[in-house]
Amino acid sequence: MKITEPATAKEFEHYYDLRWKILRAPWNQPRGSERVTDDETSTHLMALDDNNTLIGVGRLHFNSIREAQIRFMAIDLPEQRKGVGTRLLQALEARAIEHGASSITLDARETAMGFYRKQGYNPQGPGHTLFNSIAHVKMTKEL
Ligand SMILES: CC(C)(COP(=O)(O)OP(=O)(O)OC[C@H]1O[C@@H](n2cnc3c(N)ncnc32)[C@H](O)[C@@H]1OP(=O)(O)O)[C@@H](O)C(=O)NCCC(=O)NCCS
Repeated sequence: MKITEPATAKEFEHYYDLRWKILRAPWNQPRGSERVTDDETSTHLMALDDNNTLIGVGRLHFNSIREAQIRFMAIDLPEQRKGVGTRLLQALEARAIEHGASSITLDARETAMGFYRKQGYNPQGPGHTLFNSIAHVKMTKEL
């Protein structure tokens, strides 16, 4: 497995496809709903398996000079729980440190809280509810 930045139009197409498939399609959200305006100014990383197939995506942006935020972490279904998310999260954290972050914040789906806890993120209180059904918890990690 390797972690790299999408660069070509084709790579970005696959990147957003996987984000949609895992984070939007199960809630009947249309294609395009997976994209947000600050995607253009964010850092994107993707995980590729040994056949160069895309198996995971995640994104990093800065809220202030010192505070980074991770969003849109999604691992392809058959590849979940095999360590891909951990590798991707650690690579995003390394980027955050490189760019001067001292903390990372994120809104975790309640179902993914255990994953982030394992990586040192602490719950800070309730976050938003997406599509009237997906509860989120605000979590932070000091770097
Ligand atoms: C949540 C997600 C990003 C985790 O990535 P992953 O590759 O499946 O996770 P890993 O295999 O690296 O898991 C690392 C550890 O966290 C735990 N873990 C993983 N997903 C978990 C979950 N949903 N709840 C509780 N613990 C979890 C695993 O048990 C694992 O520990 P172990 O291997 O010692 O048992 C991925 O499962 C996913 O894309 N889920 C669906 C979309 C989603 O919820 N995205 C996050 C939105 S905030």
